[in-house]
Parts: sequence; structure tokens; C-alpha cells
Amino acid sequence: MAIRQIVRYGNPVLRNESKPVEKIDDKVKQLVQDMFDTLRDAKGLGLSAPQVGVNLRVFIVDLTQVDFDAEPLVMINPEIIEKKGEVIGEEGCLSFPGLYFDVPRGEQVVVEYQDLEGNRKRIRAYGLTARAVQHENDHLDGVLFIDYLSAAQRDLFAGKLKKIKVG
Ligand code: NI
Repeated sequence: MAIRQIVRYGNPVLRNESKPVEKIDDKVKQLVQDMFDTLRDAKGLGLSAPQVGVNLRVFIVDLTQVDFDAEPLVMINPEIIEKKGEVIGEEGCLSFPGLYFDVPRGEQVVVEYQDLEGNRKRIRAYGLTARAVQHENDHLDGVLFIDYLSAAQRDLFAGKLKKIKVG
């Protein structure tokens, strides 16, 4: 069990474009295990590698907290190849403690990725899974959920953002 420190808004690592995983070696497997430990400790629903300071294209989604039957997902080198519909729903992000607001996302997505064994997978995700996949996938491109704020919302949250921001 190894809990890594979650990087907070303001750390430049969150704005980098993350690099593809070339080889799923022990280091990558350890990273994923640590990410699960970190996510469960923080009681979050999803976590991307950049949020623990590693600019690799890896994220996890674990909805077991809200849905007992949910299957924890590990997505390596993911690509969203289809997006359908639009739905607005509340989101938070572990790099922005205490900040929650409505974000528009695709209602369903088809995502291709590699699992921990390197197998190519393709799934269609709906509902909260689709939302989490889009949020985490954005992290790999240095995109943060605050980028979806309108100018008015941005003003509204300016004070809160300033408090959260490090550096
Ligand atoms: Ni996030």
C-alpha cells in the first residue's frame, strides 16, 4: 500500500501533455497500484497519472464507492473515438479540493485503451463512467475541468480557486 501525494492546481505538471506508455513494465504496474491506493484513500472516483506527478497516459476510474457492482477500470493510452449526446452534471477533482460545479460532457463515449496486460480494449461507457472517463482523459492532455467554466462562473469561483492554487 503506497499512497502518493496528489498534485494540486497550480502545479505545472497538470498542464503538460502526457506521454504514451511504451511498455507496461513493473514501474507502470506499481504506478497503477499506487494510484488505486491513493484514490481510495482520497475517496475519489477517478485519478490520472499527472495528478500524482507522472506525465504518462494512464488513468483509473473506480465507482465502487457509489455503485457496489462497478468494475474498477485501468486505461492505458486511452483514446475517445466516439462521443454522443450531451449531459450536464456535477464534477469535482482531487486536484481542486472542495470545488464542485456543473460540467457538460458527452452522454456516452466509446473509448479504446490498453489494459494492464497490454490487451487492446474498446468499451462504450454511459452515465457516471462516461463522465469520469472524459474528465480523466482530459487530464492526459493538460485540460482541467475549470477550463469548462463560463466567464461568469469563473468570476464566481475566483476566490475559491485562488485558495486552492499552489505556488
Ligand atoms: Ni480531475
